[in-house]
Amino acid sequence: MTTTEQPVSSSSARASRSDADLQRMAKDHLWMHFARQSVMEDGGGVPIIVKGEGHHIWDSKGKKYIDGLAGLFTVNAGHGRRRLAEVAAKQAEELAFFPIWSYAHPSAIELADRLAHYAPGDLNRVFFSTGGGEAVETAFKLAKYYWKLQGRPTKHKVISRAVAYHGTPQGALAITGIPAMKEMFEPVTPGGFRVPNTNYYRAKEAGFEGTVEAFGLWAANRIEEMIQFEGPETVAAVFLEPVQNSGGCFPPPPGYFQRVREICDKYDVLLVSDEVICAFGRIGNYFACDTYGFEPDMITCAKAMTSGYSPIGATIVNEKVYEPFKHGQTAFYHGYTFGGHPVSAAVALENLDIFEEERLNERVQENSPIFRQTLEKLHDLPIVGDVRGDGYFFGIELVKDKATRETFDDDESERLLRGFLSKALFDAGLYCRADDRGDPVIQLSPPLTIGPSEFDEIEQILRSVLTEAWTRL
Ligand SMILES: Cc1ncc(COP(=O)(O)O)c(C=O)c1O
Repeated sequence: MTTTEQPVSSSSARASRSDADLQRMAKDHLWMHFARQSVMEDGGGVPIIVKGEGHHIWDSKGKKYIDGLAGLFTVNAGHGRRRLAEVAAKQAEELAFFPIWSYAHPSAIELADRLAHYAPGDLNRVFFSTGGGEAVETAFKLAKYYWKLQGRPTKHKVISRAVAYHGTPQGALAITGIPAMKEMFEPVTPGGFRVPNTNYYRAKEAGFEGTVEAFGLWAANRIEEMIQFEGPETVAAVFLEPVQNSGGCFPPPPGYFQRVREICDKYDVLLVSDEVICAFGRIGNYFACDTYGFEPDMITCAKAMTSGYSPIGATIVNEKVYEPFKHGQTAFYHGYTFGGHPVSAAVALENLDIFEEERLNERVQENSPIFRQTLEKLHDLPIVGDVRGDGYFFGIELVKDKATRETFDDDESERLLRGFLSKALFDAGLYCRADDRGDPVIQLSPPLTIGPSEFDEIEQILRSVLTEAWTRL
């Protein structure tokens, strides 16, 4: 430490910290993720969230907000669930930690059994990690190894969609389709190739004109084209989110995943459904591949498995991918100390009990059309170009000109999103995300416990802030 003060770590000292103390410590020592540290360095401070209850959060000054993003697409069962805290304490008391490296413990076993039960078809084998990026990294390594074990060692490339986010480990980053997040770390793991995403609103700009069904076919066929360009004997897997998050909630056009499955089968390419956001109720089912009627070879998931009460991730694979590992000396030399952590696994099981008891998936299925209709009211604002999404997961694309769909240039986007919208929405009591990784969008992904009256509240806040944003352009 270069500061003169020594850290005081007793719990009573922690409980009595003032907001100013926390801001000073954050400024001196905390490195935020995906954020400009200059905001803190320049004395702007950081919002400090101290409490959550249901779909609300409170900051260190006592102000209350709607959590419109479920933390980070994570707190699906809502904040402040005492039973999840209690089950964590009970598990920590009984067995706080043991690895699943050649050993096992009951919580991980039971959770693997439960996930296999929820997963479609014969996706029966669960490899645990501690988060989404590791789950994707695991699937990437497994895909390469699987083809080597089939005697096809050149199959190592992976295909994903433009603007898609799949995590930050160097392998997962090779699958991520956002150049601005990768260029400073190049060369990342080689072998990542990109195809167009399913942004129907901007299909014309991608070179397509026609119905949404025809667009689905067109977009899927770009994957076939890429496999042919690169050579089928070099391609190991395709990674796709059921609803692509980054770029602002692109649901799959009808028939898209059916055609992708066909293509993957034709060229012996594994299909990975990256459900780090979409699993556990976000789209109204435990796994969103069920919502869209396709069976992948692997599912990656994390976030809402515990509703964020403890970290865990998983890669769930089908019998075909697992088969070579059943025999002899073959082992998957890969793992994480905290993968399948007993506390996280116990919390996940309790969280999934809550899903069952409160019928959260059914709730999303029933309410999603009402959520959509409520947000679609915003179409009367000149700045709202598109409202899209599914389940409890929506994006609102902002435009400069509704008729031409002209988007904002970099400067305008910077002024609008970073300079005004994020803070204005937060000040107005709504925590959500103003995202500019593709065209500017506002993203909503609230806890699954909310309903029509909260949809109205969210719409009202968006309406007043977006109306003001337009006057500032
Ligand atoms: C689709 C997808 N894959 C992977 C990840 C990475 O997950 P994590 O941040 O837990 O590493 C994310 C994170 O948001 C994601 O949305």
